[in-house]
Amino acid sequence: MLCDPFGRHIEYLRLSVTDRCDFRCFYCLPRSHRDFETPGDWLTADEIERLVGQFAALGIKHVRLTGGEPLVRKGVDDIARRISALPGIEELSLSTNASRLGKFSGSLHQAGVRRLNISLDSLDEKRFEEITGSRLKPVLQGIEHAADCGFSPIKINMVIMRGINDGEIEGMIEYCLERGLTLRFIETMPVGQAGQSANQHYLPLSEIEARLRKRYQLQPAAMKGSGPASYFRIGDSDLIIGFITPRSQHFCDTCNRVRLSVTGDLHLCLGQEDHLALRPMLRAGASNQEIRQAIQAAIARKPERHRFNEAPTAIIRPMSALGG
Ligand code: 5AD
Ligand code: SF4
Repeated sequence: MLCDPFGRHIEYLRLSVTDRCDFRCFYCLPRSHRDFETPGDWLTADEIERLVGQFAALGIKHVRLTGGEPLVRKGVDDIARRISALPGIEELSLSTNASRLGKFSGSLHQAGVRRLNISLDSLDEKRFEEITGSRLKPVLQGIEHAADCGFSPIKINMVIMRGINDGEIEGMIEYCLERGLTLRFIETMPVGQAGQSANQHYLPLSEIEARLRKRYQLQPAAMKGSGPASYFRIGDSDLIIGFITPRSQHFCDTCNRVRLSVTGDLHLCLGQEDHLALRPMLRAGASNQEIRQAIQAAIARKPERHRFNEAPTAIIRPMSALGG
């Protein structure tokens, strides 16, 4: 029901429940960053429920909870429960750094979250700390715990950085193979100051694909809701790997998503700044119909594509503000 001028059906809402994070991945959130949103500006659980209800009425079927790190928001399981109960929402997923999954897996699964995307860039303790400023062990424990709770699929997202973790790809393949996890490689994006400074480590994933083809047989594979990734099965194993290539091959023609920030800004594209501020409308007493009309008008100006290559310094907000 939500269709943009390029004929793309928008069925997927990425909902950031906080812009804060317990990690400081150097390509995402600069350690010096102080400019976090103040709690009075965060959408409340009631406001989130109401807004997502309006998106669902417009045809949004899949909601993903993102951050920052979504599990640092108090009551995230309550938010999850309310969203899963909304008519029209068929799927609720979560993107997380896994540091708190040991604690929250059970209640999130009960609240209706089924699919998990987990960021994991390194299996080496020292390198993990250099990248994230945090410890690897709770993350690995969180992943084990989530697998025990029955989340499926669990996808590991690995941002590939030349000279940092590009030597760990085969090791990560083994790790995921042993645990029945899906593995996706991601190119660095010049989002925010931190993302732009990570540009020096940008590695086009076609290089990795060529390298893996020498060692494994890669069979094209289908994956439900595959979005921007292209997937391959490794030999006749159970392991599916995916390549997400925003830089080398932009995939915007199949974009099916919009993003809502913790302060209620509806962002039409991760790689553009245009957005609709919904919080002032909510707090000024707008009707549901007025909100739906404003959302439809915003979707009608969704940009055709990002401009990461042409305008690599355009996006100033850190990646953590919208959760990827
Ligand atoms: N480039 C690519 N991926 C990034 N992420 C955060 N910042 C960047 C960036 N500059 C990833 C995280 C996580 C997902 C939400 O976005 O590692 O997997
Ligand atoms: Fe936090 Fe994810 Fe950004 Fe790392 S990439 S700092 S885990 S939001």
